Amino acid sequence: MNFELTISPISEIDVDVEVILIVDKNFKHNFVKNRKLLKKANFKAEQDESYLLVEKNRLFIGVEKINDKNLRVAMAKAIQRLKSTKYKSLKVACYFENKESTHNLRAMVEGLLLGAYSFDKYKTKKSKQKLKDVTISLEEYHGFELDKQECEDAIKLAQITADATNFTRDIVNTTPNDCYPDTLAQIAQGLAEELNLECKILKPKEIKKEKMEALLAVARASRHKPRVIHLAHKPKNPKAVISLIGKGLTYDSGGLSLKPSTSMVNMKLDKSGASAVLGILKAVSKMNLPVEVHGFVGAVENMIGGDAYKPDDVLISKSGKTIEVRNTDAEGRLVLADVLAYAQQEVEADYIFDLATLTGASVVALGQYTSAVMGNCDTPKDMVIEASKEAGELATKLDFNRHLRKSLKSNVADISNISNTPYGGAITAGIFLDNFIEKENKDKWAHIDIAGPAYVEHTWGENPVGASGYGVRMMTRLVEKLAK
Ligand code: BES
Ligand code: ZN
Ligand code: ZN
Repeated sequence: MNFELTISPISEIDVDVEVILIVDKNFKHNFVKNRKLLKKANFKAEQDESYLLVEKNRLFIGVEKINDKNLRVAMAKAIQRLKSTKYKSLKVACYFENKESTHNLRAMVEGLLLGAYSFDKYKTKKSKQKLKDVTISLEEYHGFELDKQECEDAIKLAQITADATNFTRDIVNTTPNDCYPDTLAQIAQGLAEELNLECKILKPKEIKKEKMEALLAVARASRHKPRVIHLAHKPKNPKAVISLIGKGLTYDSGGLSLKPSTSMVNMKLDKSGASAVLGILKAVSKMNLPVEVHGFVGAVENMIGGDAYKPDDVLISKSGKTIEVRNTDAEGRLVLADVLAYAQQEVEADYIFDLATLTGASVVALGQYTSAVMGNCDTPKDMVIEASKEAGELATKLDFNRHLRKSLKSNVADISNISNTPYGGAITAGIFLDNFIEKENKDKWAHIDIAGPAYVEHTWGENPVGASGYGVRMMTRLVEKLAK
């Protein structure tokens, strides 16, 4: 999609269709045309409501109140509504809640690009995006505080963020027969070449040398060998150093504690954390942000077979802590235990964040659209929550407590990989990970369980069916804030 920013009045722009956002339900604003027709059509201008007046080449979209979140969704709805039409170009005015900042413009452009996404890799008939040219008019704001260059910059940031999100969506949506651990490694290597990032790929021999026996146990029954990926964006004089760790289960069958068949469907989504980490690295490096960002991915497939790891096995993790396996479907935390240990060994970071589709329990607790943010200290957790609000992704905190800590006790090893209570499964998984965070890093770390929002089987807001690319916008925003 091409974007053109102009100070010409919207009426003078010659394109196929105009998008008009309606905030006032009484259609009182003088730029609202076709009032009678809108009333006749019973258009109420509710958020998400759209009305295409083909005769006039106008698309009306309702907006509850002007803010980033609503504008992003409104523009996503607009492009989704226009997808099936033959329109090739559109124009839209700028809508601002205040004139000092360009964040509303950024949200609008993000909405268009995120809403235009579709995944048809496996369809023999590809849907072609006809709408290619977008003209945005700054007419009303010309001569005010808004600077055209700042507006151009906002569009650029939106393009980078949306492109990285769509890149992540593509990886997650790719099926397990086409995307396995080595595929993730190749994607990382591709990014490294394209963007001049440092990239190190550990194959089984090196993984063994690093004593990542918990990760190796999970990987053992698959014909697709595991990979550990370390990808780094290293600017000169960075303002901060952060490590991002992603769960990269390219498929989670549950292992010998096999998932019921209905729960196994969609388990290609279990690489969403890893895919987000790759997307975030793409975005921060394209933005050239002065923050050193390290991405670590544990890429593994959890399968069954004669050589599969079993409930009752005791694994010696990289940290030296022993883990009793009581359920092979709680595999993500085993992989992360070792990758977290590796990340802490390799990089002395100011902050450590892991993103993982770790538990069904987090989805039960919060619903499908919200991630669960956990950890020992409010600082990194609040950084995530703040960034999520700005980026328009939903995240909320779940608190650890000392009572749940006890539920991971094992009679035979240092810790059990599942809790002995059926309650609080998202938190006990988080507490399990905390056992692999070193003392000096306890307050630097936050765990983000993205099992709900990473993959939803219907469209929601600016997100399509399937992978949402959750975490890319939020964590990129977090790095942007560290760069200021
Ligand atoms: N990958 C799943 C978690 C998951 C479930 C993600 C649903 C997205 C949607 C994870 O590996 C898993 O299987 N967790 C178990 C843990 C249990 C065995 C303690 C779960 O949530 O049931
Ligand atoms: Zn599992
Ligand atoms: Zn899993």
